[in-house]
Amino acid sequence: MDFYGKDFLRILDFSEDELHYMLAMAKKFKEMKHDRVNHKYFPDKSIAILFEKTSTRTRCSFEVAGYDLGMGVTFLDPTGSQMGHKESIADTARVLARIYDGIEYRGFDQKIVDDLAKYADVPVWNGLTDECHPTQALADFMTIEEHFGHLKGLTLAFVGDTRNNVGNSLMAMSAKMGVNYIACGPENLKPSDEMIQKCKPIAEKNGSTITVTSDINDLAGKADVLYTDVWLSLGEDAAKWGERIKLLEPYRVTMEMMNLAKPTSVFLHCLPSFHDLNTSIARDVHEKFGIKEMEVSNEVFESERSLAFDEAENRMHTIKAVMFLTLYNKEAK
Ligand code: CP
Ligand code: NVA
Repeated sequence: MDFYGKDFLRILDFSEDELHYMLAMAKKFKEMKHDRVNHKYFPDKSIAILFEKTSTRTRCSFEVAGYDLGMGVTFLDPTGSQMGHKESIADTARVLARIYDGIEYRGFDQKIVDDLAKYADVPVWNGLTDECHPTQALADFMTIEEHFGHLKGLTLAFVGDTRNNVGNSLMAMSAKMGVNYIACGPENLKPSDEMIQKCKPIAEKNGSTITVTSDINDLAGKADVLYTDVWLSLGEDAAKWGERIKLLEPYRVTMEMMNLAKPTSVFLHCLPSFHDLNTSIARDVHEKFGIKEMEVSNEVFESERSLAFDEAENRMHTIKAVMFLTLYNKEAK
C-alpha cells in the first residue's frame, strides 16, 4: 500500500484496506506519543495549514502532529494570505507547493480544496469543507474501534442535522467499514440522495445498511453509538437559529434516547458542543429562545458514556497518520 504524494480530500477516495491501514497507523502513533518515543521522521519538511473558518482541534492537531513528525508548520488564517481575494486558488496552490511539502485547507466549497489539490503537486489534506470532514471521521472510527475492539457489525446513529459535513463523512466511513449507519433527523435536513446512492452499494458490499429516518423510535435497541453535531454549522447564517431549534429540538441526545438506543451505547460528538450555557453563543440562544442545552443534554455530555474527549485526542493521531503516509516516500529509503 503506497499513499506517497496522494491527497486526502474525502473518505470515498480511499479503499476499505487503505482506511483500515490509516487507522492502524494512527494507533501506532498514539502508542509512540504516549510512550514518548521520538518520531521526528521529517526534519527536512514543512507544511502550510490554511484556515478560512475557525478551529481549535483541527488546527492544533495539524500543528502538533507536524511538530511531532519534526516538520516546520506555517498557520495562515483568512487575513493571513492573499488566497481568493488577491490571488487565485490555482496560483496560491502552485506557489505554496514550491515552498511546502504539504498543504492543509479548511473552508467553504469542496471545490476550493479540490482545486488546491489539482494545482499543487504536493499532498493536500481536507481539514473540513461545507461538504465533508474526512479527518474527523477517521478519529471517530478510531475511537469506536478502541471502545468496542472491532467495527464491523456495529451500528452508528447520527442524530440531528444529518445532511451536514460530519454526517456525510460518517456515512461514507460507515459504509467502508461495514458499520450500519442510521441518519435520524428532520425530513428537510436529510442527507442528499446523491450521497446515499454513492454509499449504499459500498455498505451492501461490506455487509452493512444505511437507513434514513425521522423517527427516533427507529433507534430502539439498535444503535451502539449515538453521534450528534451542532445544529448550525460554521458559515451558516445566525438568523437560522430559530428555525433550526424548532426543527431539531426533538432530536436532542438525552439519556432517555441513549437508553432507547441500547443500554451499552456510547456518545460521540466532533465538538465544539452546546451542552450548557458556558459559551457566548449558547447564552445568546438561551436569551432569545429559552433553551439551556442544544444538540446534547449536559447529563449525556458529562456522563461516562461520552467518549468525546478521547475522540478529540484521536484527531491528532489520525491526522498524523494521514500526513505521515502521504509524505513518506518508500522508494527514497
Ligand atoms: N471537530 C473539529 O473539527 O473541531 P474544530 O472546529 O475545533 O477544529
Ligand atoms: N458541522 C460542524 C462541524 C464542526 C467541527 C461545522 O461545520 O461547523
